[in-house]
Amino acid sequence: MNQKILVAVAWPYANGPRHIGHVAGFGVPSDIFARYHRLVGNDVLMVSGTDDHGTPIMMQADKEGVSYRELADRYNEVIARDLQGLGLSYNLFTRTETLNHTEVTQDLFTALLQNGGIIKDTMLGTFAANGKALPDRYVEGTCPICGFPDARGDQCDNCGNQLDPVDLINPRSKIDGLPPTFRPTEHFFLDLPKFREQLRGWIEAQMHWRPNVRNFSLNLVDDLRPRAVTRDLDWGVPIPLPGYDEKRIYVWFDAVIGYLSAAIEWAHNHGTPDRWQEWWLNPAAQHYYFMGKDNITFHSVIWPAMLLGYREQDGVTAGPHTLNLPYNVVSTEFLTMEGKQFSTSRGVVIYVRDVLERYGADPLRYCLTAGGPETQDADFTWAEFVRRNNDELVATWGNLANRVLTIAHRNFGAVPPQGTLQPSDQTLLDELQRAFATIGDLIATAHFKSALAEAMATAARVNHYVSEQEPWKLVKSDKERAATVLWTALQAVDSLKIIFCPFLPFSSQALHEQLGYTSVIAGPLEIHEQIESNGAHHLVLTCEPASWTGRWQPSELPAGQLLPAPNPLFRKLEPGVVQEEVARLLAKE
Ligand code: MF3
Ligand code: ZN
Repeated sequence: MNQKILVAVAWPYANGPRHIGHVAGFGVPSDIFARYHRLVGNDVLMVSGTDDHGTPIMMQADKEGVSYRELADRYNEVIARDLQGLGLSYNLFTRTETLNHTEVTQDLFTALLQNGGIIKDTMLGTFAANGKALPDRYVEGTCPICGFPDARGDQCDNCGNQLDPVDLINPRSKIDGLPPTFRPTEHFFLDLPKFREQLRGWIEAQMHWRPNVRNFSLNLVDDLRPRAVTRDLDWGVPIPLPGYDEKRIYVWFDAVIGYLSAAIEWAHNHGTPDRWQEWWLNPAAQHYYFMGKDNITFHSVIWPAMLLGYREQDGVTAGPHTLNLPYNVVSTEFLTMEGKQFSTSRGVVIYVRDVLERYGADPLRYCLTAGGPETQDADFTWAEFVRRNNDELVATWGNLANRVLTIAHRNFGAVPPQGTLQPSDQTLLDELQRAFATIGDLIATAHFKSALAEAMATAARVNHYVSEQEPWKLVKSDKERAATVLWTALQAVDSLKIIFCPFLPFSSQALHEQLGYTSVIAGPLEIHEQIESNGAHHLVLTCEPASWTGRWQPSELPAGQLLPAPNPLFRKLEPGVVQEEVARLLAKE
């Protein structure tokens, strides 16, 4: 039976174009994972969207002098195009400003309120000198936990802890620099302590999580306090109760619900409105969440608490409200660039769309995986980008594919007949067979960097085989043996095409066509308008992987299949690119 897998990818704030740090964390790893599982034959549902609410959007809108909605509309589209260009194969990438998301969020809010998961209380609200409510992110001060002087009212970027503005030492407003005032205001709170023991037991059992995520989450559980899920704001999902027009559900509570609402929207958009249940109400389905390390809390503690609270609606642990808990929470570390922390405000940043425009998606995907922040902070440099592109992608994989295809095309015009395999041929084919198992296990356990290294090492061994066999000489001296060698090498290249497909979908599809196939193994992603029942419409990024044909198994490339004239898969970059790009970056400072 096919495994149902939900690939739940962190929702980027709709406050600007994506830089390569963003996509190295949540984007590329989740896509490798999703594409691999589809090749295996599992039923993957990969969802996300833009997080349109919250103060990051409000602050940027204030800066650009546009309405919150206008800003969110603008960057929702910009981000969808960035992700499309990068080939991130979301079944649905939507947004939180939809009727569907509002309804699902309000449904969870109401249910949690009814069964005591959400409680009403007063908190100290933060207000500016002019009396207006001051969102958490507009307050800065010293972190009470680690002493970092520039912690924000919602979180400390130095130690990663979640904060409330009132926790900050020497708080000041980012707007006027003055200390804010705190006075009581009525709000709704997620009663996290209520779920402490359930959460602890559940997290303790998750031995397959990365140890840092599991330990970090267990520490959080020790110190749970009720957490406000509403704020004095006018931007966000309305509270579904009379008398709360001045307040909104706060961004975190609604953003994580996006994983559920997007699955519901996907099912609806496909004319099968109940299909989301195959992932969300089916205990055998596995949910994988992908995010940067600053988002762990929300996925390993807060969202699970909400899901547990929602279950209790029936007073039973199975039934229509038994939504699945995360199966794994895969978090990445941070990416710096040229030795510096990315900083959008200082403009020291490499935008995804610029790299795509100049160098294409696969070289970027390759670099962000091979040298990305999978388990520790990593630094992106242009020198490394050019080196990896030239010495690894072009020299090893691209060169292998191109020379095998060129000799075969020129001398046979088609896949030559197999002939009698010699031990060296069989050894190579056996090695490819094993590579599927090894690399598949690495991807399934979220070891993307090792998986890619193993794929590249396999390509290097095939290259070695070709160099040793010298088919370009054999075609003159022993055409029958040449045919067998090329048949073997083509099988290997065809297998590697599938192995590389999760990492490098564009070049694998191109190679697939150069091998004479007419089917699609990595199809296009589309952006189009989706209309809701209230007549409003929004953009969605989507693809139809059910129609893609690749399988995670060794090649069955048939002899006689016609081979068109090949083209290089990758382009060698001039060393001057490094200087050019670094100069561009420094010019921004
Ligand atoms: N938009 C938030 C961020 O970028 C959180 C995204 S993850 C989700 O930090 F849980 F909200 F979906
Ligand atoms: Zn701190």
